[in-house]
Amino acid sequence: MKAAVMYEKGMPLELVDMPEPMAGNEDEVFVSVKAVALKHFDKGRASGSHYSSEAAKPEGRIPGGDGVCVPEDGTRVYGMGVSGMLAEKATIEKDRMVVLPAGIDDATAAALPNAVIGSAMGLRFKARIQPGDVVLINGATGFTGRVAVQVARHYGASKVIATGRNEKSLQELLALGANEVISLKQDDEEIIKQIKTSHANEPIDIVIDYLWGHTAELILGCLKGRGNFTHKTRFVSIGAVTGDLIQLSAENLRSVDIELSGSGLGSWTKEQVGKLFREILPEMFQLAADGKLKVDVIPAQLKDITKLWELDVPDGRRLVVII
Ligand SMILES: NC(=O)c1ccc[n+]([C@@H]2O[C@H](COP(=O)([O-])OP(=O)(O)OC[C@H]3O[C@@H](n4cnc5c(N)ncnc54)[C@H](OP(=O)(O)O)[C@@H]3O)[C@@H](O)[C@H]2O)c1
Repeated sequence: MKAAVMYEKGMPLELVDMPEPMAGNEDEVFVSVKAVALKHFDKGRASGSHYSSEAAKPEGRIPGGDGVCVPEDGTRVYGMGVSGMLAEKATIEKDRMVVLPAGIDDATAAALPNAVIGSAMGLRFKARIQPGDVVLINGATGFTGRVAVQVARHYGASKVIATGRNEKSLQELLALGANEVISLKQDDEEIIKQIKTSHANEPIDIVIDYLWGHTAELILGCLKGRGNFTHKTRFVSIGAVTGDLIQLSAENLRSVDIELSGSGLGSWTKEQVGKLFREILPEMFQLAADGKLKVDVIPAQLKDITKLWELDVPDGRRLVVII
C-alpha cells in the first residue's frame, strides 16, 4: 500500500510502499482509508512537540491519528487509528468508531472530529456549559475556534464573544453565531477595554482558550476582582498556539471566583471519552449533514503529501487528504 512515512522526528514525510497493517486482536478493525485531516495534533505528535508523542521508529512511522474509512463490511465510518492513517489501509479501534450519516462528505467528516474534541469536550466536561452562559472564545478564527463558536451556540450559549487576529475570519464568525468580535490586532489597552466592558455588561461564564500566552494573560487580568463578590468564570485551556507559559499572579487567582482547567488527552475520564463516541460525535456529524454545523475544508491528494504537510492554511480552513 502507499503510505506517508516519517523516518525521523520533524523530517519531511515521504510517500512510500509499505506492507499493509493487520488487526492485532478482536478490538482492532482493518479498514480502507478514505480521508484524513492534517491538523496540529498529528503534526505535533510527528515532530515530537505534542505531550503524547511516541519515540521515532527506524522503519518509520505513518502519521494521522484518525480519519474516514471503510471496514470490510462496507460501512462508512469515522475511526481512530491504531496504525497511522495517512495510508491506503489502516487498523482502527473498534470501540472508537462512529458510523457516518449519508449527508456528510468524506472530507468534512474527516476534518470535524478533532475540532469537536477541541470544543465540545471542553465546553461540556470542563466548563459544564449551561443554556444562557456567556462564552468568550480566544483564538476563534482557527478551524477549531470556528467550530467552537457554533457548538457553544448549539449548547445554548446566550452570547459568544470571539477574539482573533484574522479580520476576514472574525467577520465570518458573526455569521456562524458569534455576537461580538474583538480584534487581537489592536493594542493591549484597547483589547483590555473591550473585554472589561463586555464582562461588565454581561459577565463571562466561560473562556475557551486556544492561544494561551500573552492574550490569556490579558483575559485573566481582565477578570481580576477588587475584593468584592465576583462572578464565577470557568477558564478552559485547549491549545497554546502563542506560547506554553504565562505569568499569572496569585492575586489574580484570589481576587476572583475563577476555575482554571485544561481539556485534552489525559484530562478526560473514560466515561467522557465514551460519551464522545456514543453521543457527541454522532450528534455533530448529523448537524453537519443537516447543514447546521459549517466547516471549510480543502481537499488534497496523498501523492502531494510532502508539500501538503508543511502548508499553513489560513482563514480557519483545514486541509484534508483524500485517499
Ligand atoms: N486539546 C484538544 O482537544 C484540542 C483539539 C483541537 C485543537 N487543539 C489545539 O487548539 C489550537 C487551535 O487549533 P486549530 O485547529 O484551530 O488551529 P488553526 O486552524 O491552525 O488555527 C490557529 C489559530 O491560532 C491563531 N494564531 C496563530 N498565531 C497567532 C498569534 N500570533 N496571535 C494570535 N492568534 C494567532 C490563528 O489566528 P489567525 O486566524 O489570525 O491566523 C488561528 O485562530 C491548537 O493549539 C491545537 O493543537 C486542541
